[in-house]
Amino acid sequence: MMERCGIVLAGGTGSRLYPVTVSLSKQLLPIHDKPMIYYPISILMLANIRDILLISTPRDIGLFERLLGDGSQFGLHFSYAVQPYPNGLAEAYLIGEKFLNGRPSCLVLGDNLLYGHSLSATLNKAAQKKHGATIFGYHVSNPSAYGVVEFDQSMKVVSIEEKPAQPKSSFAVPGIYFYDGRASIFASQLKPSARGELEITDLNKKYLEEGSLEVELLGRGIAWLDTGTHDLLYDASLFVKTIEQRQGLKIGCLEEIAYHKGWIGPQELRSQIEKMGNSTYSTYLRHLLEAPRSAV
Ligand code: TTP
Repeated sequence: MMERCGIVLAGGTGSRLYPVTVSLSKQLLPIHDKPMIYYPISILMLANIRDILLISTPRDIGLFERLLGDGSQFGLHFSYAVQPYPNGLAEAYLIGEKFLNGRPSCLVLGDNLLYGHSLSATLNKAAQKKHGATIFGYHVSNPSAYGVVEFDQSMKVVSIEEKPAQPKSSFAVPGIYFYDGRASIFASQLKPSARGELEITDLNKKYLEEGSLEVELLGRGIAWLDTGTHDLLYDASLFVKTIEQRQGLKIGCLEEIAYHKGWIGPQELRSQIEKMGNSTYSTYLRHLLEAPRSAV
């Protein structure tokens, strides 16, 4: 099978965060000690995906390039593309068609933070699937704000609806989706919804219609945090700060993941430490260099 690649979609208007996002991408804002975009990138890395297309707005794409470069410092390869207008999540598969070149992929939204028990195993299970698509289901208190998935006892998807007024279940669909190599073909068949967007829910329905859409539940041991409003952004920062301080381990530290996976060596780590100046982030990287690689 062709190797699975990744797309991080980091465009949009972020209007719920105005005035903070009037001049700057939401996905560059800090979640405690690192830019928001680090967290979705770390999700792809945990799924062993290393060839990644980053999509953002014409206004912000240069800032992402300046932050992330070619990705080699994380043992990754980054490509960049622009979404001229926020026409919907499924447009990533039209913009990314050439990059994908028929490969299976994982799309992750640039503002999604996932953390918790057995996340890597769950992601890798989905990544291994050769045919069809996998979405996830996560129990939330306010399903109407999200795509909602309904499933039967054998975990077969019965329906998916985008922001339903009367949700058929309490399971929201987080912004991480695994597709086989046909996603761009299906995306090209979609029509804009009533709100004028190419909906990811409609792309998922294409797979549902042919019976190849699977849902995996992310249990209560996993935190899926939204960062779309001022309160949620603050809560997410506090969550990361609390866990990191308690454990002395970082969430979403890209160099650490790359180092533990053997994608970068001590030399690359050393050069990152120099680039990170006097920050607690660079202190953390220095500790990694001193500790045995398999310590955690
Ligand atoms: P949303 O949260 O739906 O939209 P938004 O981030 O622009 O925020 P707001 O509602 O406050 O205006 O988007 C979810 C994620 O997808 C977010 O990371 C932005 C991104 N996105 C795109 O990159 N392109 C798009 O066309 C859309 C609709 C969203």
